[in-house]
Amino acid sequence: MKPAPFVHHAPRTVEEAVAVLAEAGHDGKVLAGGQSLIPLLNMRLASPGHLVDLNRVAGLDAIEVTREFVRVGALVRHAGLQRSEEAYAALPLLRQAVTNVAHPAIRNRGTTVGSIAHADAAGEMPAVLALTDGTVEVVGPAGSREIACADFFLGPLETCLEPEELVVAVRFGRFPAGTGTAFTESARRHGDYAIAGVGVAVTVSDGVVTDARASFVSVTAVPGALDLTSVLAGVEPGSDAWERGLRAAAEAVHAYVDPEDDIHASADYRRMLAAELTRRALPHAVQHSAQSAEDRGDSSSGHLPTSSGRFGATGPQGDGAPLKQSAHSTEREDGEVTVVVNGVPRSATVPARRLLSDFLRHDLELTGTHVGCEHGVCGACTVLVDGRPMRSCLMFAVTAQDHEITTVEGLCDAPDARPAPTGESMNPVQQAFAECHGLQCGFCTPGFLTTITAYLDDNPQPTSEQAREAISGNLCRCTGYQNIVKSVLRAAEIRTERATETPAGEGT
Ligand SMILES: Cc1cc2nc3c(=O)[nH]c(=O)nc-3n(C[C@H](O)[C@H](O)[C@H](O)COP(=O)(O)OP(=O)(O)OC[C@H]3O[C@@H](n4cnc5c(N)ncnc54)[C@H](O)[C@@H]3O)c2cc1C
Ligand code: FES
Ligand code: FES
Repeated sequence: MKPAPFVHHAPRTVEEAVAVLAEAGHDGKVLAGGQSLIPLLNMRLASPGHLVDLNRVAGLDAIEVTREFVRVGALVRHAGLQRSEEAYAALPLLRQAVTNVAHPAIRNRGTTVGSIAHADAAGEMPAVLALTDGTVEVVGPAGSREIACADFFLGPLETCLEPEELVVAVRFGRFPAGTGTAFTESARRHGDYAIAGVGVAVTVSDGVVTDARASFVSVTAVPGALDLTSVLAGVEPGSDAWERGLRAAAEAVHAYVDPEDDIHASADYRRMLAAELTRRALPHAVQHSAQSAEDRGDSSSGHLPTSSGRFGATGPQGDGAPLKQSAHSTEREDGEVTVVVNGVPRSATVPARRLLSDFLRHDLELTGTHVGCEHGVCGACTVLVDGRPMRSCLMFAVTAQDHEITTVEGLCDAPDARPAPTGESMNPVQQAFAECHGLQCGFCTPGFLTTITAYLDDNPQPTSEQAREAISGNLCRCTGYQNIVKSVLRAAEIRTERATETPAGEGT
């Protein structure tokens, strides 16, 4: 299925965005990373007449750290938050949690604020907002307002946002000195939505617990926090009383959560899992609390920013990247898209609802990009956008404007591509797939090749376990995973060989 037609609006300022939303009313929808919204559009579970695309709005891509909070702008991608050392130093929980959100290709595009506005209690970041007593910053036609997390989430996928309002940022509250955090979850495959997950924060002072709380993933209808102070206060971690306290905390969680049955797990199993994960997470948080006490001690002597420090966090793929003014169109049902694909500027006139995957395949006739599920799960359509893997079925061609796309066809032009015995040029990953029989029918292969090519740039020498995790967001229907893992490891070797080889003509 493909999205129903809509009018695409590309405002440049928050004021413009709010004005369009006000005019569109219930027929308008905000588009941020699209990693939750576009699957719904593709499956026609939603069909708004107007999409207000935030990706060119200036000033929404910053992470700001103060003594009280970490403020995350509406265009900060999950991957940008995960990479931010400043956010990690201020609130380690953010990285502990965001690492569990989906697969890298989804995190490269999806935004943390979008995840909170989506209000899915199966999402990690709404749980983190609840655990940190966070605040949502909203702008609408009547001005701006701040909403406490406890008032923001109303029900499953439901918030108190009005249709004409925009979330410009969320603020995650920082914990006092001596607070340690941990985040853990159980999923069938790393990166899948959790069957159950928990985040905990424990404050230890003078050797005893003074405060403890937890929040949950996939086991409550609405993100919220459970105060565990009454069962753990005054207890010394490691003592017999601590063991009793952990059991009491698990019982409190068992009574608090309210999961539902689904095809992945029964409600009883999820309830038991949430309780057990909490029991296991609390000691980890205590371990981190000692570190936290030291860090916050440093901060008070000036090692952490004492006033707001601002960091761009979208990286090269981010929509903080400058866009050509000439390409700007504020409103269109169709229009000309200009992108650089495999090093070549390409343009075409397409409907706004044209998915990037279809644009590549049908308009540019680059059929190497395959389309499987069209809701982000299979990974067959993965391409590199400014060097980072993203799902081309979860982007519109118009949102790729002015970005650089590399498809599987472009991999053989990489600087480390070499002619294979068959005559074709192959990059190290392609060569490794050929050597290790990393493909059978080949349908999934383009997505694996782009994903692994980008992964090896970040981690050139993966272990076998890391190789498995690297491909966890890609499905092979022929189930040839063993040879694909071998291909990842062989590709790393070929990259090293090619990086150290003597250029032609320089040998003795
Ligand atoms: C295969 C797959 C696996 C996934 N796994 C997980 C997972 O394990 N955990 C998890 O948490 N998420 C998961 N996700 C969802 C992903 O994290 C999304 O990125 C995130 O939920 C939404 O962010 P977005 O920027 O893509 O929002 P969009 O999809 O653009 O928007 C989502 C909703 O929020 C609204 N919205 C977005 N931004 C704003 C704003 N600034 N103001 C007002 N409204 C706004 C939109 O109108 C829409 O209703 C997964 C997605 C896929 C495709
Ligand atoms: S992830 Fe895009 S087609 Fe499956
Ligand atoms: S090789 Fe056939 S789907 Fe993966």
